[in-house]
Formats: sequence, C-alpha cells, structure tokens
Amino acid sequence: MPEAKYSCKDDILCGVNIPKDLKAPSELEQKHLPVISAPDKVKKDEAFGVTVEVGKLKAHPNEPGHFIEWIELYCGDTFLFRIGLAGSITAPKVTIPVKLTHAHGPLKAWAKCNLHGLWEGTKDISIEET
Ligand SMILES: [Fe+2]
Repeated sequence: MPEAKYSCKDDILCGVNIPKDLKAPSELEQKHLPVISAPDKVKKDEAFGVTVEVGKLKAHPNEPGHFIEWIELYCGDTFLFRIGLAGSITAPKVTIPVKLTHAHGPLKAWAKCNLHGLWEGTKDISIEET
C-alpha cells in the first residue's frame, strides 16, 4: 500500500491524493488518477511523447460545475509542463513531447479537480545513454 505521503488522512482537499490500493482503486480514485502513458525506456536527449489522461480508468465529469482545472508533469521533482484546461470545453487529456537528459525519479503527474482536489499518478522511466 503506497504511503499517503502528502495528504491529510481523510480530507481529499488537503495535500495530494494517491490511490490507497493501486490494484483496487475506489471509484473516486479511478475518476481522478492521472494516468501517464510513455515508454519505459527512452534515449537521452531524444524527444518522446508523454500522454496524461484523467478519467482513463473511469470517466471524470467534464461539465461547468465539475471539471479538471489543470495537469502538471514532473520527472521526479523536476517540472516539465503545466496545461490549464477550460472546464467543459477541453477534455482532461494531453500529449506533450518531452526530452530528458536524466531522470531523478519516475514521471509524476498532478491533476486538480475543482471539487475533489489534487491527485497524483506516476510511471517509472529510465534513460538510456546514446
Ligand atoms: Fe472530480
């Protein structure tokens, strides 16, 4: 079971939420977990696509009163990109080209729901020297 490293115990609006059991996420967790799609291994300094999608496991509402406000991507704690989403006009899915020279940790996506707070998803990646 992953540590609730950032969040306050049962307050989803405090800190960063991660599923309590990645093998059996709750419906709320499935709707909010940002899922990262990227290669397991990439070449140093070579661009590759990273897709982050909220609602891949179970559709998240995308309407004026309930939507994903923004998505950020990091490699370890190094910031890579942030995209703001315009409520019900844009879907909470983004693909961005990324180029890494090294990795200090996994790819880490944060997604912010206007009603249910901040959520984190991760994906391991390794950098192959060319
Ligand atoms: Fe939500």
